[in-house]
Amino acid sequence: MGYSFAAMAKRTFPLEAIEKAPLKQLRALQLRRLKWSLGHAYENVPHYRKKFDAAGVAPKDLRSLAELARFPFTAKADLRQTYPFGMFAVPMDKVVRIHASSGTTGKPTVVGYTAKDIDTWSHVMARSIRAAGARPGDKVHVAYGYGLFTGGLGAHYGAERLGLATIPLSGGMTERQVQLIRDFRPDIIMVTPSYMLAIADEMERQGLDPKAASLRIGIFGAEPWTNEMRASIEKRTSLQALDLYGLSEVIGPGVAQECLETKDGLTVWEDHFYPEVVDPASGRVLPEGERGELVLTSLTKEALPVIRYRTRDLTRLLPASARSMRRMEKITGRSDDMLIIRGVNLYPTQIEELILKQPDLSPHYVLELTKEGPLDHLAVLVESRNEGAAKRLQHQIKSYIGVTADVRIVPAGTIERSIGKAKRVIDKRPK
Ligand code: DLL
Repeated sequence: MGYSFAAMAKRTFPLEAIEKAPLKQLRALQLRRLKWSLGHAYENVPHYRKKFDAAGVAPKDLRSLAELARFPFTAKADLRQTYPFGMFAVPMDKVVRIHASSGTTGKPTVVGYTAKDIDTWSHVMARSIRAAGARPGDKVHVAYGYGLFTGGLGAHYGAERLGLATIPLSGGMTERQVQLIRDFRPDIIMVTPSYMLAIADEMERQGLDPKAASLRIGIFGAEPWTNEMRASIEKRTSLQALDLYGLSEVIGPGVAQECLETKDGLTVWEDHFYPEVVDPASGRVLPEGERGELVLTSLTKEALPVIRYRTRDLTRLLPASARSMRRMEKITGRSDDMLIIRGVNLYPTQIEELILKQPDLSPHYVLELTKEGPLDHLAVLVESRNEGAAKRLQHQIKSYIGVTADVRIVPAGTIERSIGKAKRVIDKRPK
């Protein structure tokens, strides 16, 4: 990315040509890259070769983007089976970085990067931060965790690539986060939305008005959050809250980003990651606009190509708006997060939506599942000063979602604060 002096004078970063390219040019680039990526996976990863052979498909037969649907899916289980490095497509002397996602059960998922992959990742993250509204001279406070988690380092490399002053706080030590926001006056904060709430609480505890802070833009992701949460954060602070999506298997953060000028879902950086949405049960590819599971294929990644990776994230594809690339709707849940309470399907974000519609409830909540005899029982624990709010929320959960929940108001500060991804569900049911 080169930045011209003319654009610097206007204090904006120019777009890359591909972000505004005609659709025909984008599709041609994707097809060329897709052929390369399929061939690279087939030639260098025995696991892919076996699966493609078993499905009777060969990379050289691919003639159109739609034909990708003939190739088999990849799932977290494939990465587990080949733990730790079996899916790597390059020898270890070409790998310069390894990350891993903890996962709640079993072995972590291990991912690797070549120097070119780190370059690609920095590039798409720089593009994401720019789309969120970064301007030359901005300072970026990174409160995503640094370490095996991809959030901190992904954000860090992107911000530096853009030429911004990057402040690597990582997560935790909330008092110090607030002190440094006060002293360094950053313009942008990159953090999980749930940890942003903890930072705002700490500002208030220190007698600071979150609205008076220097922060202009929040780049939030790594966990589901609702538009109601966005509204609540924007009301309490002076931030424009924008959504950033990604997952370690595909590269980390920087797969898709909401653009400041439209704030209408996340533009998928389709020149590097090819999106499909499938029916989660049958695996059938769904037409644009229909809701289902997001499936991603890497187009340029060397160390760990992923072909039709089942993300478990539920969304739908939307036509392009601020860029030439398609958008995806804000992700409000993962298929694995779905709770079934006495036969009714429920995502934690549906409860979040209802909580945030009530001004006297705080955005700090947790869902607790227990067993009462043969039946599942759902309790919603939420902080408030008003006991009366419980009845109202209980009533709304029943009428909007159709589930009987036991709402318990708890004193401010009792729900455990996350310093990274929030844990919204405590499952106390016997296994
Ligand atoms: O969470 C990467 C990331 C870091 C994204 C920082 C954004 C910001 P993983 O730990 O592998 O990677 O977790 C990936 O987190 O499949 C989604 O279920 C969820 N997720 C990530 N971003 C969003 C988002 C990082 N914007 C998993 N909205 C994904 C909803 C998200 N869910």
